[in-house]
Amino acid sequence: MKILIYPGTFDPFTKGHVDIARRAAGICDKLYIAILTNSSKNTTFSVDERVEMANKSLAGIKKVEVEAFDGLLVDYFKLKKACAVVRGLRSESDFRYEAEIAAANKLLLPEFESILLPCRMDLAFTSSTIVKEVASYGGNVSGMVASDIVDMITTKLAGKKKTNN
Ligand code: COA
Repeated sequence: MKILIYPGTFDPFTKGHVDIARRAAGICDKLYIAILTNSSKNTTFSVDERVEMANKSLAGIKKVEVEAFDGLLVDYFKLKKACAVVRGLRSESDFRYEAEIAAANKLLLPEFESILLPCRMDLAFTSSTIVKEVASYGGNVSGMVASDIVDMITTKLAGKKKTNN
């Protein structure tokens, strides 16, 4: 059984993440979406909210299971008996960052493999930070995240920033 892991903070899950997850699910028997609980990032959404948003965003995609994890990715990799970790590549700077993570994980666990999938070009400039920035000004994020999670995001962030007008 070919098992892949797609790890991240997913604060929140974006359409770019959905695209990578859908394509990864197409090349494996089982895909774990691993939501990092001990992220060094100061997250806006709780881990339960991030799991809920990932589940809603991925509804209907078979073979996918969303789980929270903490600790080292290599330990989760061993626990799941995975054959590779999938990450999305949006730009050259993503490549450097991903190459560093991949190399560190390979040192920690020689059987660790990374699959880097290039992002869809129209989603290449989306990030969780941009989604939160737009939502905090009351902007429309429906082009960036799945329709089923728009309300959760806008409810949490609406009015966080006000314009001077
Ligand atoms: N579409 C949209 N946005 C994307 C994207 C895509 N396809 N791919 C990446 N991004 C964005 C995310 O939205 C996020 O944006 P933000 O910075 O504005 O929040 C950013 O790129 C990267 O976040 P994410 O993909 O969630 O990963 P991460 O960097 O938060 O986490 C882990 C990376 C989970 C793989 C890494 O931290 C990890 O393995 N941690 C566990 C501890 C460990 O083992 N450490 C040793 C590893 S060296």
